[in-house]
Parts: sequence; structure tokens; C-alpha cells
Amino acid sequence: MISSVDGRLYPQRYTPTVTGKAWDDFEAAYFNKTIDLGADGLIIGRKTAQMEAEGAARSFQPTNPKPAENPATFVGRRWSSRSAIMADPRGRIVYETDTIPIPYSPHPGGEDVIAILGERVSAEYLEHLREHNISYAFAGPDGRDVGAAMEALGTDFGLKNVLVCGGGIINGAFLKAGLIDELSLMIYPGVDGLAGVASIFEYQGAQDELPAEGQSLELTSSETLDDGIVWLRYAFHRR
Ligand SMILES: NC(=O)c1ccc[n+]([C@@H]2O[C@H](COP(=O)([O-])OP(=O)(O)OC[C@H]3O[C@@H](n4cnc5c(N)ncnc54)[C@H](OP(=O)(O)O)[C@@H]3O)[C@@H](O)[C@H]2O)c1
Repeated sequence: MISSVDGRLYPQRYTPTVTGKAWDDFEAAYFNKTIDLGADGLIIGRKTAQMEAEGAARSFQPTNPKPAENPATFVGRRWSSRSAIMADPRGRIVYETDTIPIPYSPHPGGEDVIAILGERVSAEYLEHLREHNISYAFAGPDGRDVGAAMEALGTDFGLKNVLVCGGGIINGAFLKAGLIDELSLMIYPGVDGLAGVASIFEYQGAQDELPAEGQSLELTSSETLDDGIVWLRYAFHRR
């Protein structure tokens, strides 16, 4: 993740650096870190996917919303060394092909896709995915059980090192579930400053919940990159 000094989520809103650069100038550095971290899967929240991923903006409108009977994991075409894992509980993303191009990807044709869904998605949506040879697995009835999703990614797809790449809502779900081992965070030398703007963790819970309760962070490395960006890595410890 990248955040402003006030922990905010939307890089387009950050003030420019004193060297006159903006977020766009650092995109390559940011995405190249996802390669350095050696992940075999990048988990992307449905909103981020539809806002940012090329070819994923359209929303699926089933003509028949009937859920699939006994939905089960489907393993489609898998060819890239890392997969784009779309956390899409309600099966909303329409795909044109079986790949999604992650910016600055080592795979010029894009990453193969694994959709993580709720078991109540329509049979028609699953058919849409199979038609495109897109893999899918389930995260419980409502698609929000990130523990079940991780189980499926390990067992059915053999993934071992997965990066949760935002946005804040999906990060918050993993935080609450206690499933984060490490935080890799680039602090951009800019400010957002507006009250109420989302942060890099946005667990959707009640006012009195503490989604990070029982967890502590240990700083494991810090590095100053060009233009005053600081790259911090923390290990998560759980009681
Ligand atoms: N600063 C950074 O490094 C960074 C990185 C990535 C993204 N971003 C920015 O983040 C913004 C989007 O972030 P966001 O926080 O609004 O959304 P998000 O985390 O990208 O997506 C949230 C959606 O994920 C789905 N979801 C899957 N599993 C879930 C679970 N267990 N609990 C809750 N939701 C789950 C839900 O889809 P449904 O609504 O369909 O149910 C939910 O609305 C974009 O503007 C993007 O540019 C910033």
C-alpha cells in the first residue's frame, strides 16, 4: 500500500512533493514493489478492481438471479507466475478475457484471474466466468469470509504468498480476520487532510469494534526512496 503522511487511501488527492512530482510519477516504483515482494497472487477489492483495472469496469446484470446449486471451485486457465485475485462477493465484475493487466506487470498479456465469490452468486455469473476460462473459489455464503478464501487459494490453487493490495475495505476485512503477516507501506510525502477521507484500513464494523485488537506491529525494515518516499515493512504479531 501507499499512503499520505495522514494515512489516507487516495493517491490522486495527495499534495505534490516538494520536487514537483505527483502520485503518477511514483506508480512504477509502487507496482514494482509488488514484484520485489515475490507474491504468487495479488488480492484486489471489487471497488478497486472496477475503478482501476483495465477491462473490469462493467457490472454484470444477470437475466436470471437464481443461485448456483452446490457451487464448487473451478480451476480455469492458469499460466502467469502470479494471479490477479478479485474479491468480488456478489459477482459484479464483467470480464472481457481471462486476464487482467496489473500495471507494470512482468506479464505483458496480464495476470490470470481468480475470482473470490459468495456462494449465493447466480449460476449465470459462474457460467460467464467458465465461458472465459476464469478460475473461481468461494468465501462462504456472502463471499466475505476471507479465511475461507485463503484456505481455497492455498488448497485449490497452491498459492503461498499473497499480497492484499487494497483498497481500504478489503484490507480492513483481512485485518479484522487476523490474517495479515506483514505490512508493506510506502509513505508518500504528501497530505490529504480532509476529515472523513478513507484510510488504508477501513474495516466496516460497529463504532466500538477494534479490528486490530490483539495484534502488534514490529518494524522490520525502513528505507528512504527517491523524492522522500519512505518504505516501511512491519511484521504482525498476534497474541
Ligand atoms: N493507496 C493505495 O495503495 C491503494 C491501493 C489500492 C486501492 N486504492 C484505492 O482504494 C479505493 C477503493 O477502495 P475501497 O476501500 O473503497 O474498496 P475495495 O477494498 O477496493 O473494495 C471493497 C469491496 O470489496 C468487496 N469485498 C470482498 N470481500 C470483502 C469483505 N470480506 N468485506 C468487505 N468487502 C469485501 C465488497 O464488494 P461489494 O461492494 O460488491 O460487496 C466491497 O465493497 C480506490 O479509489 C483505489 O484507487 C488505494
